[in-house]
Amino acid sequence: MTHPTELLRHRYGLDTFDIDVPWNDFLNNLLSHRSIRAYLPNPLPPGTLEILVAAAQSASTSSNLQTWSVVAVEDPNRKEKLSELAGNQAHIRQCPLFLVWLADLARLTHIAESRGLPHEGLDYLEMFLMATIDAALAAQNATAAAESLGLGTVYIGAIRNRPEDVAEVLNLPPHVFAVFGLCLGYPDPIHAAAIKPRLPQSVVLHRETYQIAESVDASLARPVRASAASTSGEEEGIAHYNEVMKAFYTNQQMNISGDWAEHSVKRIAFAESLSGRDRLREALNNLGFPLR
Ligand SMILES: Cc1cc2nc3c(=O)[nH]c(=O)nc-3n(C[C@H](O)[C@H](O)[C@H](O)COP(=O)(O)O)c2cc1C
Repeated sequence: MTHPTELLRHRYGLDTFDIDVPWNDFLNNLLSHRSIRAYLPNPLPPGTLEILVAAAQSASTSSNLQTWSVVAVEDPNRKEKLSELAGNQAHIRQCPLFLVWLADLARLTHIAESRGLPHEGLDYLEMFLMATIDAALAAQNATAAAESLGLGTVYIGAIRNRPEDVAEVLNLPPHVFAVFGLCLGYPDPIHAAAIKPRLPQSVVLHRETYQIAESVDASLARPVRASAASTSGEEEGIAHYNEVMKAFYTNQQMNISGDWAEHSVKRIAFAESLSGRDRLREALNNLGFPLR
């Protein structure tokens, strides 16, 4: 186990805080997470997929509806096709196991229809969101389980770049949507990945209510809320994080210009910045999600 103070230092840069909780392997694994984008060809031991799915199914699920499924892809040709559809990411081809996590409302549709019962509720945005949340919780349980076994993972949101084509490759029925992929395999030690720092807790943790920054309007001599809400302490926290991330980009030889804020804002600047996902509503309608 790594000392918690050291893990926290990696997670937040230099600043850290004192903790007085009993440390354990589980926390150690969670705080050691890093995405892996280079894999050894070694196969996974028999039973790995099944134990990961058992971990996934052990996650909480809204109303026990279990509105998710997963497709395990090992066939090189199929991984190749999926990689092409997801921005040609090499790690999809390289990893021995690629899991595609699905929001799956087909099962409930079938159960209702086979009993001659109505299922209008499935047409609503709420049910799509529920299925997506369920899929994400299940996937993250599998991810934590995989990491505890010494495996590396990386999520693949780019699987949403071309949802209808992905549905065709995976033979998905209507009312099923690939939320994200997940590469799994043993990390290639030659391309060891570092723990990526996160925003300071002062930026993401609010106590009791959301802490919106207030500026004082001199003419009224009373506090006013900023038009684009920022939180108190946010500017300082982000400035600190920008410095931490600049050092991280340099240390890791990542080809990222500017700081984290600049990099992040580029990702949301225009519809085209979404790599095809700006038409997600249309794609979902085509896949049988009316999103009423
Ligand atoms: C839903 C989701 C989708 C992601 N999609 C991709 C992807 O398509 N390609 C990729 O290389 N990383 C992807 N990532 C990984 C993130 O870039 C990564 O988690 C983030 O930079 C933080 O780094 P870390 O996981 O190493 O801490 C995705 C992560 C999530 C949670």
